[in-house]
Amino acid sequence: MKKKVFDTKRKTAAALAEEIYRRIVKSDRLLNIALSGGSTPALLFSILAGDYRDKIDWNKAAFYWVDERSVPPDDDQSNYKMTFETLLSHIDIPESHVFRIHGENNTEDEAERYSEVIQKTVPMENNLPVFDIILLGIGDDGHTASIFPDQMDLLNSEKVCEKAVHPESGQERVTLTGPVINKGISVYFLVCGKSKAEIINKILNGDREYPASYIQSESRELYYFLDKEAAGDFA
Ligand code: 6PG
Repeated sequence: MKKKVFDTKRKTAAALAEEIYRRIVKSDRLLNIALSGGSTPALLFSILAGDYRDKIDWNKAAFYWVDERSVPPDDDQSNYKMTFETLLSHIDIPESHVFRIHGENNTEDEAERYSEVIQKTVPMENNLPVFDIILLGIGDDGHTASIFPDQMDLLNSEKVCEKAVHPESGQERVTLTGPVINKGISVYFLVCGKSKAEIINKILNGDREYPASYIQSESRELYYFLDKEAAGDFA
């Protein structure tokens, strides 16, 4: 695991944007990239859509999502909507390279449909899709993607995607499962803000009771991009 700590949220997002840019430029093939939702990546996406709009050949990227809330794509809670507004609507990417989770569908059916889409379009190894880049956040409770602390079984699921339920709101979600996330070639956590300091401290100290601590990517590349506030004692 590599940890990178920056002074501000903007510098953290900018460093990750540069990293993603370099990955895409270096690659001589299409990269399959799974994006996280929540609020933190919005700044990263707008930097990519601004500074990197014309520098990146977007034909070399295909976008998927690590999770989606069970809402239509025009709902303010939709991860797709946030990504569309901050990134997709500003860049020249073929529509056929954008694989959104249909949050408007029945959640269980959609988990199955999306698993099939991924299996057909992303290279497979030992029955698991291999994403080139996976972007993740961490919730204050230690969840990542939509794998919550009371649904740890999703970390060992044999499926590609599963239905998840937000423990407080009861909102249904579709999420990639633990084995798929751990299979990613490069996995990036982007975590910013004071509210994350406590959970980051526990996870980086090796506390295993949180879903995010199980994202180990042992043989792969795992990075934590943190701002000073989230890094706390690890700054
Ligand atoms: C989602 C997520 C989720 C998110 C964390 C952190 O759809 O909510 O993908 O795992 O990354 O909850 O969210 P914030 O960036 O909003 O703190």
